[in-house]
Amino acid sequence: MTVSHLTTPTDHRAQMIEDVRHGLTAYRKHLASKYLYDARGSELFDEITRLPEYYLAGVETEILSERADEIMPEVQPDELIELGSGSSLKTRMLIESMYRNSNGRRYVPVDISEAVLRTAALRLRNEYKWLEIEGLVGDYVPDLGKIRRRGRRIIVFLGSTIGNYVPTLRHSLLRSVTDALEPGDAFVVGLDLVKDEPTMIAAYDDAQGVSAEFNKNILHVINRELGGDIPVDAFEHVTRFDRELVCISQSLRASRKIVANIRALELTVTFAAGEEIHTVVSCKFSRPQVEEEFGAAGMRLNHWFPDDGDRFAIAMASLE
Ligand code: AVJ
Repeated sequence: MTVSHLTTPTDHRAQMIEDVRHGLTAYRKHLASKYLYDARGSELFDEITRLPEYYLAGVETEILSERADEIMPEVQPDELIELGSGSSLKTRMLIESMYRNSNGRRYVPVDISEAVLRTAALRLRNEYKWLEIEGLVGDYVPDLGKIRRRGRRIIVFLGSTIGNYVPTLRHSLLRSVTDALEPGDAFVVGLDLVKDEPTMIAAYDDAQGVSAEFNKNILHVINRELGGDIPVDAFEHVTRFDRELVCISQSLRASRKIVANIRALELTVTFAAGEEIHTVVSCKFSRPQVEEEFGAAGMRLNHWFPDDGDRFAIAMASLE
């Protein structure tokens, strides 16, 4: 087992400084959702996946357990690359199926959080002695091309994390996936589907308030990493459905006027009462939309595996 850096810690910090400065000085303030996932944020997200309101995780697991043995024999990959692997819980079904259905023994999890990636990799190593794990820490969007190839590959991107990218960024992400594929390879992606608004909203605004705490964690990360004094409790969690972008959008709303300093940026930020910092979009999909987006990026949709209730789907694509 190895864990190495795709993006060096210095680059990561420089990028974070630039992103946060840009986001907090913009006319509409925003912060990139990847900064939600420090150790605490990742723990909170795992807690979200166990909430009754957050149907996504359970439904995706159900689809994967039914379909893994259809996906793997078709591709017979030598390596399984997972973008945004997190705790790698759902991947187990794909790893086991790879063992049964191909000679592939290599798993390459890629994640922004080193702590989470290490913990997951250690656990997998103990469970699957035959598995060669090469963990990569970093942001996969700019660096997908840096992952070296060892035979036929399957790239998986689960949890509808692709929905965290607005359409333009999603297009670049899909293009880099296309560039990382060769004929015979496959891309397998988990997608949350458009459905009634109350169901979609509740998944990001649960009764226990875990989603709210998760969203606010981004401010704790900034305070700690960049020496900020943002009063986290003065912000409220806001969740709404954006019909134009077809996504759930989350933000943090200042409940009063706030002036905060961020030492590493030598920046003073002012928030008017009611002003929001935009944090996460979770786009929702339909099959025609996905077919079109894959096509625009040079891929073809080969399989569409929804659950019985059409809440979530696993899509499988390859080069055109
Ligand atoms: C990272 C895509 C799995 O957008 O549904 C959950 C992240 N953010 N609640 C999602 C998230 C707030 C989640 N995924």
